Amino acid sequence: MILGIESSCDDSSVALLDIKNLELIYHKKISQEMEHSLYGGVVPELAARLHTKALPMLLEEIKPKFKEIKAIAVTNEPGLSVSLIGGVSMAKALSIALKVPLMAVNHLIGHIYSLFLNEEAKFPLGVLLVSGGHTMVLDIDESAKINLLLSTGDDSFGESFDKVAKMLGLGYPGGAVVQELALRSQNKVRFKFTVPLLHDKRLEYSFSGLKNQVRVEISKLANLNEDDMADICYAFENTACLHIMDKLTKVFEAHKFKRFGIVGGASANLNLRSRIEKLCQKHECELLLAPLKFCSDNAAMIARVGREKYLRGEFVKHNELMIKPRSEIDRA
Ligand code: KG4
Ligand code: ZN
Repeated sequence: MILGIESSCDDSSVALLDIKNLELIYHKKISQEMEHSLYGGVVPELAARLHTKALPMLLEEIKPKFKEIKAIAVTNEPGLSVSLIGGVSMAKALSIALKVPLMAVNHLIGHIYSLFLNEEAKFPLGVLLVSGGHTMVLDIDESAKINLLLSTGDDSFGESFDKVAKMLGLGYPGGAVVQELALRSQNKVRFKFTVPLLHDKRLEYSFSGLKNQVRVEISKLANLNEDDMADICYAFENTACLHIMDKLTKVFEAHKFKRFGIVGGASANLNLRSRIEKLCQKHECELLLAPLKFCSDNAAMIARVGREKYLRGEFVKHNELMIKPRSEIDRA
């Protein structure tokens, strides 16, 4: 089995994956959402403390399986330094104790492999990665080489939901609650937000202006009731999805994808999913979606990438495994 460890942000997660048949033997995550919710976002120092409590608790549960572990895969980039350190330190110590090799996994590649948790990966593939930290469109060729086609110049798609939720006093994270409220809107034309960069040729995303448009509308309302919030959430979510689709349509016209996947925590957004479904139908492109449970951060996807590295013998020495807050893909 491969042991996967994920602690890049605010989820502590551990998974055991069967190398041969890709069966997920064990998977659990302890989310810190409740603790961070009080502050409207992730507090790094708090995240670090909670990982040092949760990760050993999860390891304790799989102790009887320790003998079957052949290698350890751990997220080392990108993420919050103080969070990454928790998982990486634990992985190093365990790898020494169990005398098994270590593998360093890029969290973003992990999200891509959430599309192939129980099957062999299929490339070439186009990917939209939407999470709390990233908004990227990637073109992955037959040899799994990643080409970054576009990304955001400021906030990410998921982050903009989190910030709108914070402005409305809805806690953290904001994605699910904003989506839920949007569905309850009774007046869908009440607020009109401008789609960012609509007539701009740049292939780039930008969500900070949209967030500010929402802020201005909120400031005009005295006491926000639930109807106000639902109408704002509807207009915001729709505009954010229109922005994703505007640029993505252009990418689809230039790249004839045969297969396209949506990954990352915010790929759970149903409005976005249904729009991309239609785009894929139009372009006769197969749409791949990760199971909802594995859209957000999890160790199963990290173990899944680890399994590929294990088969290729891509191991890393203890003293060479470093954490990297920013990813290679970011810099591409
Ligand atoms: O991938 P993930 O679990 O963590 C990061 O790597 O960032 O993504 C979490 C992000 C949060 O910003 C959360 O608000 C967003 O995904 N999210 C959503 C939805 N569910 C989660 N955003 C929009 N709509 C959703 N239904
Ligand atoms: Zn993530």
